[in-house]
Amino acid sequence: MTLRAVVRGVGHYLPSRVVENAEFEATLDTSDEWIRARSGIERRHFATEDDTTSSMATAAARSALEDAGLGPDDIDAIVLATSTADLTFPSAATMVQDKLGMTRGFAFDVQAVCAGFVYALANANALIVSGQAKRVIVIGAETFSKIMDWTDRSTCVLFGDGAGALVLEAQDGAGTKADRGILATDLNSDGRHRDLLYVDGGVSTGTSGYLRMQGNQVFRHAVEKLAATAQTAMERAGVTADEVDWIVPHQANIRIIQGTAKKMGIGMDKVVVTVQDHGNTSAASIPLAISVGRKNGQIKDGDLLVTEAIGGGLAWGSVVLRW
Ligand code: ACO
Repeated sequence: MTLRAVVRGVGHYLPSRVVENAEFEATLDTSDEWIRARSGIERRHFATEDDTTSSMATAAARSALEDAGLGPDDIDAIVLATSTADLTFPSAATMVQDKLGMTRGFAFDVQAVCAGFVYALANANALIVSGQAKRVIVIGAETFSKIMDWTDRSTCVLFGDGAGALVLEAQDGAGTKADRGILATDLNSDGRHRDLLYVDGGVSTGTSGYLRMQGNQVFRHAVEKLAATAQTAMERAGVTADEVDWIVPHQANIRIIQGTAKKMGIGMDKVVVTVQDHGNTSAASIPLAISVGRKNGQIKDGDLLVTEAIGGGLAWGSVVLRW
């Protein structure tokens, strides 16, 4: 018997404010055509006055709990991936714990920027297979609209806000690739590239700062590193490209998504794509895409999923799981 972290529920939350590309044309030297052609993004959701990272994370967690048929006190831990927690501390995860009315267990944030959800899944998996938690809510939630420089056309048109969540549960498996649950993980970072993508604020500056990105440099790293990490995780899981039902990639840019799928030898008909509607929601993008893909009937019971993401750090990784 092998203990596996199996998905029991999924949910998401998107703020009600939808901003189409054309809205940026009023204030920036940009166009709907440029944004679509270079990124694949058509629209994104931005937080309203009522939305914070912890409120959106709570809504996504509630939805995932409902899908799982569980209540907050059935949960042992909350692992929340975010780079835009409401406050420097406490963690957004403890705020979610309180908002859910969960009075036991433990909660903490994981910060690996756009790779955050993959890092959070790997950590939750480790908690479960080591017997430290039986049920974990893994959340990705971001309000990147709060760290945008609205005069910088090379970044502010690319990002969006939202949250997605999975409920993972310890279940016995046979120890084979036919098991449900997380089959393998792969995590990487290389701090030498930290200047390619960062926020120019924090406790050292006394400001919360704005996102700065050398997009074309990040792009150069992305396809190669994403395909390599996915390949490593797939080898650890003992699966090949023809066995994959869905790639659920980090949704930063349709050209990165297409280039990575091609390098992995997998057709775009097996890729869940939401970048056109959500933009880049950083750590929220993969759970949002999983939730949308599940709700629209793409992801079915027993399907083999490969997630992959890269972001600031650089940090990148992949998780292979069977639904
Ligand atoms: N509208 C019009 N023109 C623009 C815009 C815009 N919104 N933004 C940039 N341009 C211009 C640039 O100024 C440049 O003009 P120039 O040639 O006169 O200097 C030109 O378009 C080309 O710019 P590039 O940056 O080379 O364009 P590129 O094709 O690389 O696309 C993009 C830019 C979309 C940012 C792309 O590089 C990308 O997606 N990079 C990766 C982003 C990513 O994956 N980030 C990691 C995750 S994010 C995270 O971790 C938080």
